[in-house]
Amino acid sequence: MKSILFAASEALPFASTGGLGDVAGSLPAALAKLGCDARVVIPLYSSIDEKYRREMHFICAIRVRLSWRNQYCGVFSLVKDGVTYYFLDNEFYFKRVSMYGNYDDGERFAFFCKAVLDMMPYIDFFPDILHTNDWHTALAAIYLKRKYGQIERYSEIRSVHTIHNIEYQGVYDFSILDDVFDLPPSNASIVDYNGLVNLTKGAIVCCDRLTTVSPRYAEEIMTETFASGLHYILGENSYKIVGILNGIDVDYYNPATDPAIPAHYTSDDFSGKATCKAELQRRYGLPVEPDKPMIAMISRLASHKGMNLVERILDELLQQDVQFVVLGKGEIQYERFFRGIEERYNNKARAIIEYNKELSKLVYAASDIFLMPSRTEPCGLSQMIASRYGSIPLVRETGGLYDSIKNYNPSDRSGNGFTFKNYNAHEMLFALKDAVKFMTESHEEWEALVRHVMNVDFSWDLSAERYIDMYSEII
Ligand code: GLC
Repeated sequence: MKSILFAASEALPFASTGGLGDVAGSLPAALAKLGCDARVVIPLYSSIDEKYRREMHFICAIRVRLSWRNQYCGVFSLVKDGVTYYFLDNEFYFKRVSMYGNYDDGERFAFFCKAVLDMMPYIDFFPDILHTNDWHTALAAIYLKRKYGQIERYSEIRSVHTIHNIEYQGVYDFSILDDVFDLPPSNASIVDYNGLVNLTKGAIVCCDRLTTVSPRYAEEIMTETFASGLHYILGENSYKIVGILNGIDVDYYNPATDPAIPAHYTSDDFSGKATCKAELQRRYGLPVEPDKPMIAMISRLASHKGMNLVERILDELLQQDVQFVVLGKGEIQYERFFRGIEERYNNKARAIIEYNKELSKLVYAASDIFLMPSRTEPCGLSQMIASRYGSIPLVRETGGLYDSIKNYNPSDRSGNGFTFKNYNAHEMLFALKDAVKFMTESHEEWEALVRHVMNVDFSWDLSAERYIDMYSEII
């Protein structure tokens, strides 16, 4: 039986701010279902709900040494869906108002990474694979290679590093290499990128396999346009790279059972979807009109999510007979822009400026068209979740959006959404207008498309097998 320790900075349902949390909360369970001993380790953030804390068992307390620091680390665990989750406790580092964005994030995650390796003898688990994710856990892959590789029980562990988004790399000044990361100068060439410490670069060099979250993004990040500066190092390590499309937890995102929506439905009978739409309209004071096309966005309001395209054409779009709902928060300029739209189009548009997982499910269920015009998108999960709830994705052809959504072709009724190619606001607007026209004029065909889209298999089943094949290659 293969054993995998998945180290991540977040995992649903315990702590999550985005797609990485979804993946860390669902891929390991899919691996377990296929017979792996899959376990996950995340920090014990103070935001983790009391109801999960009550289920946790205390395993041990260890001391974690990093340079001159020598700190307490409590190891707690609980089992969920066949997966053992470990939570690493240190209140100085993890009792914070927010999970990220603290001045000492580098030190916090260095502590976490070192603890991930140090806890292994105490929990008596030396996995076949240490699977790290994004820059927060990149140091675990680096420590494994540079500090632990010579130690007997560690030397057999192989490492896989997954890039969920190459734009966040963990870049620091060299002055903290030894003092904070406990990496003596002999490691400089491993992490050096353009004269700075780059933790993602270090993991790329140290890992045995590098994965990213869609085949298309794996190709894209080899190019200067997408690599955020890392294309040379990726080029040198291209033999390690594989792109595996993420899946979603189809039980958690299931309109037939989801407790977060007011009516349940399936692809055979989606009348409950109309109830969800009416509930959202009522709750947010939009006219309750069942046949009005509702276009939704659920997204971090960041420019790489395509917000400037939306900014450019939303006025024009709202000349149409549609409703528009956005849920999310992020860069202040976009929050302001959407609030302004809501003011100006008060009977058509709503801007719900918050991150709200429960509410997001009502928005997926209520809407007809789900807009995701990302400039770059490593995988994207929202288009898959939207599909599951019968909201037809309209996406730009990039990264995982390209791999998961194919443009609808009326002549043979193939495709599972609407796509546009260029990062161009009017190309997006035309696609939106076509989709709205299609929905209002071809009712039966639209319903057939909704039914088809709801049945597309976005579960982990296939991709989890691909991970297992990849693990087997390196064990
Ligand atoms: C990041 C990416 C997103 C991906 C997610 C999970 O949030 O931006 O595209 O779906 O990670 O891999």
